[in-house]
Amino acid sequence: MPAERITVPFTVAAPGRVNLIGEHVDYNDGFVLPMAIERHVRLHVRPRADRRVLLRTGRDPETVPLDLAAPLVPRRRHWSNYVAGVIEGCRRAGHDPPGFEAFVEATLPSGGGLSSSAALEVATATAIEALCGGELGAERKALLCQAAEHEFAGVPCGIMDQFAVCFATPGHALCLDCRTRSIVPVPLGAGLRVLVINCGVKHSLADGAYATRRAECAEAAGRLGVASLRDLVPADLEGADGLLPPNLLARARHVVGEIARVPAFVAALAAGDRGAVGALLAASHRSLALDYAVSCPELDLLVDLAEGVPGSVGRRMTGGGFGGCVVALVEEARAEEAARTLVAAYRSARGIDGGWFLTAAAGPPAVTVD
Ligand code: GLA
Repeated sequence: MPAERITVPFTVAAPGRVNLIGEHVDYNDGFVLPMAIERHVRLHVRPRADRRVLLRTGRDPETVPLDLAAPLVPRRRHWSNYVAGVIEGCRRAGHDPPGFEAFVEATLPSGGGLSSSAALEVATATAIEALCGGELGAERKALLCQAAEHEFAGVPCGIMDQFAVCFATPGHALCLDCRTRSIVPVPLGAGLRVLVINCGVKHSLADGAYATRRAECAEAAGRLGVASLRDLVPADLEGADGLLPPNLLARARHVVGEIARVPAFVAALAAGDRGAVGALLAASHRSLALDYAVSCPELDLLVDLAEGVPGSVGRRMTGGGFGGCVVALVEEARAEEAARTLVAAYRSARGIDGGWFLTAAAGPPAVTVD
């Protein structure tokens, strides 16, 4: 990232992410395995001499003004909250950004479970680093962006998305231990590609279901007498039905099982054991659908259809859920064909074409002077 202050127009590109496995466990101190994708949010930034920020998107004809002379406050359900929250966070971290204009563009669908909000937050923080000269450091930047999402967007998210964007490593997924925040880059394995298919139903984490799941996990951990569900292994839950009501037991079963699946998945990738890779992804999806109740009929259908597609090694819903995308690992040699077969089957079953793409693991946010 630039240590020098940039005073001319520049562009920041921050990638989205797809999570391969480890879903809804980041806020339970678990392991996650996201990877940055070749789909980005871009901010075209023009520094200003005054204290005004003017935000524009191609979709939204209105310009959103922010006045840096006063503290910024959240607006009800508005995308500019991601930018405003990060500006406030940077100011708290000691940066004093000048005014700027920013045109926001994205090759990343919003509401697709691919972290378009984290990409916008990290792009904003990176733009502020460039405008001020100086670096926040990747971990501090990720945490500041997560705080913006909590405070300004009202979503009590974990650390996965912002870490996946800030620490993005070309060619690698990231095995992130959300308790210690240590990261191990994980190569995908020879001959495999990542396919992302949008089910065409949008999700909105601010609707409250996400916060409810998080609260349920905290309650389950409390009743089981542990600081977090990370402190348990699957065998600990056998016989726990007297301690937890059925819905909390189901939530805990998902989290504890999913945390255990992540190192098993990393080992299966390293061993090139495609059978185990597929079985772990299938178990993850089943657990998210049945125990965690965050899937939807469209995601379930895509996952079912993908099972019969030649070249498809494994698949599951990815991201927060309630819509969004399915991630599939496909054989490189048949990747394109597998994608087309699946998308055609989904279109004929549901009449929906939500879009799809194959992606390699992308690199971290980048700044280019225009
Ligand atoms: C959203 C949140 C993440 C994570 C996922 C589910 O993307 O922002 O912190 O909890 O959902 O794994």
